[in-house]
Amino acid sequence: MAAKPISGPPRHVAIIMDGNGRWATMRGRPRLFGHHAGAKRVREIVEACPDLGVKYLTIFAFSTENWKRTQVEVAGLMSLFRRYIAKEARALFEEGVRVRFIGDRVRLDKKLQALMDELETLTAKNDRVNLTIAINYGGRDEVARATKRLAEDVANGKLSPEEVNEETLPKYLDTCVLPDPDLVIRTSGEARISNFLLWQSAYAEYEFIDTLWPDFTRDVFTALVARYGNRERRFGGVLG
Ligand code: IPE
Ligand code: IPE
Ligand code: MG
Repeated sequence: MAAKPISGPPRHVAIIMDGNGRWATMRGRPRLFGHHAGAKRVREIVEACPDLGVKYLTIFAFSTENWKRTQVEVAGLMSLFRRYIAKEARALFEEGVRVRFIGDRVRLDKKLQALMDELETLTAKNDRVNLTIAINYGGRDEVARATKRLAEDVANGKLSPEEVNEETLPKYLDTCVLPDPDLVIRTSGEARISNFLLWQSAYAEYEFIDTLWPDFTRDVFTALVARYGNRERRFGGVLG
C-alpha cells in the first residue's frame, strides 16, 4: 500500500545541535570557536519556523553529561550562554518568540539563572514561535526529578498511586506545557539521542544528518521539514 503522507508540517521540532567542536577543529581553531559559530546559527532557524508552520522549536544546548568536558570548555559555554541571552533577548522578544528553558537550573551559576528567568518573563506573552532551550538537561535526570516531585505529591495525599499513568506523569516533566516533538533532528552524523527528550520522543520521527551544526542553514532545515511531510506515522496502528 502506498505510504500515506503526513498532513501538515511538524508542529514541534527538536534539534540536537552537534558538531561544533569538529567544525572548529577542521579549521585549526579551539572548540569554543565552534560553539560561537553554532550559537550564531540559532536565530536564522528560529526565524524560519513561522513560515514553515513550526510552532515549537526545542534545542539542546548543554547536557547533564557535558560537565565531563574540560573546565575551559564548560566555563566558555556558560559564558557564551550568558552573553547569548543578554545579546539576543531584545531581538527574540521583537520577533514574537516565547523562550523557555528546560533542564536542572540549580547547578547553573546565579547570573545565568537570573538571565534565564528574565528572558522567560520578558517573552511570556509572545506566541509566534515557542523556543525551548535545554541547558543542563538530561532525559533521565528530568524523569528522576519528575518522579521525585510525583512521589512527594503521593506522600502528601495530593495524588493517589492509582492516578499515576501516562497522562499524569508527564505533567511533572520540565516540558509539561509543550506538545511532544514530531521531528527530532541530530546534526554531525552521530546516530544517537544522547539522553535528549527520552519520554517525549517515544513516537517522534528522526533525522540524523551529516551537516555539522555551524553549517546548518534555513535551507537544510526547510528540506528536512519538507521530507517529514512524506513520512508515514503509524503510532503502532495500521494505516487503512
Ligand atoms: C555540540 O557540539 C555542542 C555541545 C554539546 C555543547 P560538540 O561540542 O559536541 O561538537 P563535537 O561533537 O565535539 O564536534
Ligand atoms: C549532545 O551532544 C548534547 C548537545 C548537543 C548539547 P554531545 O556531543 O554531548 O553527545 P555525545 O557525547 O556525542 O553523545
Ligand atoms: Mg558532540
